[in-house]
Amino acid sequence: MLLFGTTKGFVIPQQKNILSSRILQSSQQPEEPPTLEKKEQKDDTTTLLVKDNEHHHNQLASHQEPSNNNNNEEEEKEVEGLPWWWEYIWDLDAMKPSGKTTGAVSFGDSANVFRTNIEQIYGGYDSLDNCPMAEGALDDLADGTMFIGLQQYKNTFGSPYKLCFGPKSFLVISDPMQFKHILRDANACYDKGVLAEILKPIMGKGLIPADPETWKVRRRQIAPAFHKAWLNHMVGLFGYCNRPLLQKLKAASESSSRKVEMEERFCSVALDIIGKSIFNYDFGSVTSESPVIKAVYNTLVEAEHRSMTPAPYWDLPFANELVPRLRKFNDDIGLLNSVLDELIQKAKETRTVEDIEELEQRNYDQVKDPSLLRFMVDMKGADMDNKQLRDDLMTMLIAGHETTAAVLTWALYELVRNPECMKKAQEEVDRVLGGSDRAPTLKDVQEMEYIRLCCAESLRLYPEPPLLIRRCRTPNDLPKQCGSSLKEGIEDSPNPHVIRGMDIFLATYNIHRDERFWPNANAFDPDRFLRPYKNPEVPEWKGYDPDRWRSSAQILYPNEGSADFAYLPFGAGARKCVGDNFAMLEATVSLAMVLRDFDFEFDLSKKTTDMDHDGPTFSLDHPVGMRTGATIHTRYGLHMLINERKQQHATTTNNNDINNKEETITQ
Ligand code: HEM
Repeated sequence: MLLFGTTKGFVIPQQKNILSSRILQSSQQPEEPPTLEKKEQKDDTTTLLVKDNEHHHNQLASHQEPSNNNNNEEEEKEVEGLPWWWEYIWDLDAMKPSGKTTGAVSFGDSANVFRTNIEQIYGGYDSLDNCPMAEGALDDLADGTMFIGLQQYKNTFGSPYKLCFGPKSFLVISDPMQFKHILRDANACYDKGVLAEILKPIMGKGLIPADPETWKVRRRQIAPAFHKAWLNHMVGLFGYCNRPLLQKLKAASESSSRKVEMEERFCSVALDIIGKSIFNYDFGSVTSESPVIKAVYNTLVEAEHRSMTPAPYWDLPFANELVPRLRKFNDDIGLLNSVLDELIQKAKETRTVEDIEELEQRNYDQVKDPSLLRFMVDMKGADMDNKQLRDDLMTMLIAGHETTAAVLTWALYELVRNPECMKKAQEEVDRVLGGSDRAPTLKDVQEMEYIRLCCAESLRLYPEPPLLIRRCRTPNDLPKQCGSSLKEGIEDSPNPHVIRGMDIFLATYNIHRDERFWPNANAFDPDRFLRPYKNPEVPEWKGYDPDRWRSSAQILYPNEGSADFAYLPFGAGARKCVGDNFAMLEATVSLAMVLRDFDFEFDLSKKTTDMDHDGPTFSLDHPVGMRTGATIHTRYGLHMLINERKQQHATTTNNNDINNKEETITQ
């Protein structure tokens, strides 16, 4: 029996036409049922095996029934059958589920998910989760544009659907109400699962991969560090760190070729900003190269590579000694750790303990080291464990740098593609900054709403990351997908059920580009966030209302509340990004400074004719291409020709930028 076939490195089950009956049983009716090819059944093992399994499953999971018990006489089922040894494996102690419904998921719990999938596919059992199983060519999933493949499946199977990769399977969620449930209402039922496994060697128990128990303690210590006085001070720092970038761009505009690769430039400035703000370290990456900078980039590349690798080969015995790429990774991470350890040590040696209220009232203009690390070390009752501090710093270094660079890259890309929007953006910058060469203040950022909306629209079209990852610890039911209440016959169908150990992809990309929530969803239209929208075809969704965020001067961007979870640039619920305001301020300051001083056009000598990834919903026929790891990158770089703008002013370094703040912001 052929259990698995491979597609470009990923392993997917070869399914027979039992898929059709499974989809019919599901509560989630596909918008268009997939066409299925009828195949010959190979053997006659099915009836006997189903009987054995029935006995076993009565003990294990009372609600799973062999599908030949199903009352629907009309359903035609064919099953390939399970091998004779199948039952024996599940008698082994290691393969047994933990029997718990809370706490960390065991190997046996994950194995049980695998078991139920295989028994569904080959044994003819009903699905435990009531979700359709996606089937089709998985090419897009394997080559760095996985989120596009997942979007195509969503158009066929709805939300959620189940995707199997060899022993792994994921429920792919593309619905705002189901997002709300998982991220906010039932957050305690989930942890970071696969993501934590991948990131552990890099971020340890840092906030992003942290298990719920560690997270609770760490979030309480880190979140207050992003307080308003500190954010106000950071606006000045962002302007200060952008000065070397402007000088570099000016030099490029004066060169004979006028060529510049902007993705790389935005990455450098974002790295310099995060180094200074989080641990007062000057990477100076806009102007120079160093082994430490290279180590940061290599670590990022490795993190992304791991997120796209089906099996954790780095955990194999001796792999770290024998595989050259792992040896290199370990050297890089060793170098970064030693830099961070030194900074932590220094911060501890000059520690001045204060309680949170005192720290929040610090005059940051007078403080020698205004970094987040300083705050975390000085906080009364702080956890001073070096390893934990290092994990937190590494997490913020990685999480807070490429993401912001990607927002800037895609915002600039879309603005150049949409000259009307560019005109509007530059007019706003000129009006607010009044033709001066000063760096924007917080008040300016608050006034530059269109620039902020360009960043928000960039995040809608290119969410960073395009998928969030969770693993179920406590079994729970999901709400039915939006629009179900209008579909006949769906009231009595069961809700999707998430079993313990099940891995989840929350496909933010799918929601952000869904026409039901965002008409003309693939178009770059920052002004859409000024228009209220409600869709009668999805009555469960409250709609988007700009008043829900614009009525408060403190809220910088359209958030998940204003769009009833159809827009989640920074996630939502307890695990929402701690750096959201920091990132929006940073992106607005950087974009405004660059657009004030320069005009851009695509360097068409770099245009690609690569049409490998065009699909019904999205075409990549543009000069940059897309690929993804943790964030969505260009495939070929953002190559531009640059011109200094006529009404330009001197861009000399202005050390007052860092103190240049006039207003306050609350979190
Ligand atoms: C535009 C830039 C950014 C984007 C799009 C972004 C996006 C996100 C998203 C979607 C999450 C939720 C992940 C999940 O639920 O699994 C998250 C979490 C997080 N982000 Fe950001 N982020 C950005 C910038 C930053 C910055 C600047 C920092 C720090 C300086 C940061 C630090 C974190 C941390 C620590 C978490 C984990 C929060 C927790 O689990 O409690 N991010 N981010």
